[in-house]
Amino acid sequence: MSDTPRKILVTSALPYANGPIHLGHLLEYIQTDIWVRFQKLRGQMCTYVCADDAHGTAIMLKAEENGITPEQQIAQVKADHEKDFADFQIRFDNYYSTHSPENQALSEMVFQRNKDAGYIIEKTITQLYDPQKGMFLADRFVKGTCPKCKAEDQYGDNCEVCGATYSPAELIEPYSAVSGATPVEKDTTQLFFDLPKFEPLLREWTRSGALQEQVANKLQEWIEDLQPWDISREAPYFGFEIPGYPGKYFYVWLDAPIGYMASFKNYCDREGLSFDDYWAEGSNAELYHFIGKDIINFHGLFWPAMLDGAGLRKPTAIYSHGFVTVNGAKMSKSRGTFIKARTYLDHLSPEYLRYYFAAKLSSRVDDFDLNLEDFVQRVNSDLVGKLVNIASRTGNFVKKFGGTLSAELDNPLLVREVQEAAPRIAEFYEQREFGKAMREIMALADHTNGYIAEKAPWSLAKEEGKEQEVLAICTTAINVFRLLVLYLKPVLPALAERAEAFLQIDPLRWDDAGQLLLEHDIAKFKPLLGRVESSQIDAMLSDSKEVTAAAKASTAPAKASNKMDDTVDDTISIDDFLKVKLRVARVAKAAHVEGADKLLQLTLDVGELGERNVFAGIKAKYQPEQLEGKLVVLVANLAPRKMKFGVSEGMVLAAGPGGEDIYVLSPDNGAKPGMEVR
Ligand code: MSP
Ligand code: ZN
Repeated sequence: MSDTPRKILVTSALPYANGPIHLGHLLEYIQTDIWVRFQKLRGQMCTYVCADDAHGTAIMLKAEENGITPEQQIAQVKADHEKDFADFQIRFDNYYSTHSPENQALSEMVFQRNKDAGYIIEKTITQLYDPQKGMFLADRFVKGTCPKCKAEDQYGDNCEVCGATYSPAELIEPYSAVSGATPVEKDTTQLFFDLPKFEPLLREWTRSGALQEQVANKLQEWIEDLQPWDISREAPYFGFEIPGYPGKYFYVWLDAPIGYMASFKNYCDREGLSFDDYWAEGSNAELYHFIGKDIINFHGLFWPAMLDGAGLRKPTAIYSHGFVTVNGAKMSKSRGTFIKARTYLDHLSPEYLRYYFAAKLSSRVDDFDLNLEDFVQRVNSDLVGKLVNIASRTGNFVKKFGGTLSAELDNPLLVREVQEAAPRIAEFYEQREFGKAMREIMALADHTNGYIAEKAPWSLAKEEGKEQEVLAICTTAINVFRLLVLYLKPVLPALAERAEAFLQIDPLRWDDAGQLLLEHDIAKFKPLLGRVESSQIDAMLSDSKEVTAAAKASTAPAKASNKMDDTVDDTISIDDFLKVKLRVARVAKAAHVEGADKLLQLTLDVGELGERNVFAGIKAKYQPEQLEGKLVVLVANLAPRKMKFGVSEGMVLAAGPGGEDIYVLSPDNGAKPGMEVR
């Protein structure tokens, strides 16, 4: 690198301060860390900042549930997060919190500038309000019976049973998830960021090359329908009060991205860097945000618009990644695949995961499957079988024959080939095509192992007078090893350190690929990395199950957010499924219910279980006579539910969203009332 170093500022999304880091999060922090380490290794001036996302209702309520103040809550979680990150070798230049004086000052500045420019408007809206708790309720904090399928205890934005989406006002018998009180509708005046004004800017920016193609396309769709964005929340709220609006607070998603700036400001003040150099309009520094695909609307629309409105620079690029699945499915608490960072570390080395993520990552937004069998196989075969093997098969002979590498290589062409791969591998790292970089590196390792096997230094070592030949072979192998360790250093920094100690060299930098290690003393070879055992994986999974069973009981509504996707597990175990007792029933009688415009009253013959009375919301589709005599499927062990018209003793299965579009499921003739359905 002869040119002046690039000035690069990199961020990862700020994790919420209400829960632990899990393997899903780690994909992002490891991806970013690898990219940052690569830049640093190349001699760029690269700064990596992050912080805890400390504000919002979810965190406020979590603290309350834990019987501590929000400040205590976020301090505890931050300490845990920092420990997890450090143990995964994720090296931030600064890790801060959005609940900081810098963030308050910067949030006020960004707000004020946007306000002065006419981008902040006031609007009166109607929201649900918890009269007992005295607070407005975000959708996630209202619960009630699903208007479509009548499942109880569903959240105010969507039903986890039937998947319907609706507004909280549509819930049947809504109640506040915070206090249990019945919410009332109340008018409130809120501040909105006038996003539609930024349409031309966003159209241009989303096509400027700052976004991956998949993301740019998605954003184009959203740009068709920009709405003013509600940026204020009423007290009680854990956040920053808005200057000039007593009792109103910045919505967490306003001050969260500003938290990137705040963490960097805090770093600049400590390290003597110029903040404006990076953030002023027209800055020549590069700014990259690594994020998950669930938060691209915040980073691809609101954030550049807000920055622009405040006269600040916009990001150079947003790099988003997909979601982690484990063994092909969403991370699941019941299967034990909702794995916390700490639980992983209790059983396995962080280097395995760093390598596996790298080996399968690309620059695309696709989801990422962590297949645990493949993980074991890949790590053992690549890292232990290919990479470490080169040194373990040759290092000892060097020691045995004096401990000094020879002056000549036995196979200079091989070493040259590995050196010449450096620019290609660098380009893969730069483009976030880590998988391609890993494949290239492992192909070189394969090649080298083939060479070692062919030369069989262990046989030669037994022959008289072959010392120099053995040394030249091993010197070739050790030189390749050194280069491959260098290429892997962004991914495996700790392994690189152990290798540097073995080779007795200074910390490797990318430029060192141009040099060789000849006539140089090396240390005794010590194992650099052990194999992964599947028993460790099993232990980790079983630990994840135990921990989460307890954790589950104590978690309130997970998080308040309007995301496209969610990490929350939506699968059930077979045991959960078997709890549902389904029986065949015959409709003995069907009747209209006076005063009910959606319900029919069904009298069901359930064989040995006797008769059941069920109210079903199928009146828009069926006449009572169409149903009489028909076989249906009954959820037989549903707790009886008292309704306005009587007690409903079960539920009849039907397909479709509801209204006229509903179809009662009916077993084939021949099935008998009372039969179990499986
Ligand atoms: N606090 C917000 C981000 C604010 S940034 C100004 C947030 N926090 S989060 O804790 O829910 O997620 C942090 C990051 O981890 C996000 O980029 C999110 O996409 C990522 N992931 C969370 N779960 C994930 C998976 N299961 N898989 C991959 N990434 C995941 O969002
Ligand atoms: Zn439903």
